[in-house]
Amino acid sequence: LELEGVAVRPGAEALVFAQDKGLMRQRLAELAMPLPRWRRVSRASEVAAFVAEGSSFPVVLKATRGGYDGKGVWVVHDPAAADEILAHDQVPGFIVEEMVPFTRELSAMVARSPSGQAVAYPVVQTVQRDGICHEVYAPAPGIDPEHAVAAQQVALRIAGELDVVGMLAVEMFDTPAGVLVNELAMRPHNSGHWGIDGAVTSQFENHLRAVLDLPLGDPSATAPVTVMVNLLGGDLTDLYPAYLHCMARDPGLKLHMYGKVVKPGRKVGHVTATGTALDDLLDRTRHAVAYLRGDIDE
Ligand SMILES: Nc1ncnc2c1ncn2[C@@H]1O[C@H](COP(=O)(O)OP(=O)(O)O)[C@@H](O)[C@H]1O
Ligand SMILES: [Mg+2]
Repeated sequence: LELEGVAVRPGAEALVFAQDKGLMRQRLAELAMPLPRWRRVSRASEVAAFVAEGSSFPVVLKATRGGYDGKGVWVVHDPAAADEILAHDQVPGFIVEEMVPFTRELSAMVARSPSGQAVAYPVVQTVQRDGICHEVYAPAPGIDPEHAVAAQQVALRIAGELDVVGMLAVEMFDTPAGVLVNELAMRPHNSGHWGIDGAVTSQFENHLRAVLDLPLGDPSATAPVTVMVNLLGGDLTDLYPAYLHCMARDPGLKLHMYGKVVKPGRKVGHVTATGTALDDLLDRTRHAVAYLRGDIDE
């Protein structure tokens, strides 16, 4: 494999695929993984042809490289809108995809070591708004065990085929017909942060164990339900007083602050709670995040 004229050694394939959505889709297609219908495009006429051959507007245009948190993902409703996006000269390449009518989004994470040992985390549900992950529920509520195992097997198979070392997150769309792979993240991932407080071995510990080729730790959940809510920058810029308030108000919460400069919409921390009732955990974690953003004051 060559990327921009540089030969990529086999073990590093997965890193490249995680950074280039076109190469990633191509490789996953070769592995016969379930994917949304997709194609590389550079002109609006190609988008129109893609639609004519079996999809319908709206479709999703994606920059092949450089995107994150929904930057580099556009829903387009007609060829004129596609034309406008495709004119961005900073973007090295585009793919178009069918708009998947998913019932929810899932993430299947695995850790894999150079000697080939691999472990699969419980499959989680991710809740995205405007392309940004807001919440994670572990395990995905009500997921049928066979469905969860199928998603884990997809992730384990990708990790094995791409010779992944460390953590791999496979973002998926859940549909009545089964899961479709959306994208790969070759690293500890936001959808795995719940495990710091809710799994026997966190993704960070297993990432280190994997790269050191040590035996991997147990990825099982320690509680029936874990909820993780991201803290995206809001009105408050000094989070410390709110942080103390939230610690005192609900000692059962785990508050994680990243020490980053707070900017609107930037991921600057997350709040986790473990227990048995999803609704209760959601109320408490969402309350803390709203307080930390400055949306509420009690
Ligand atoms: N083909 C699609 N159909 C429907 N929704 C999509 C599609 N592709 C992406 N999305 C939505 O946009 C979000 C971000 O897209 P993604 O490809 O994961 O980009 P990013 O690299 O920004 O995470 C997804 O989590 C999903 O909510
Ligand atoms: Mg994504």
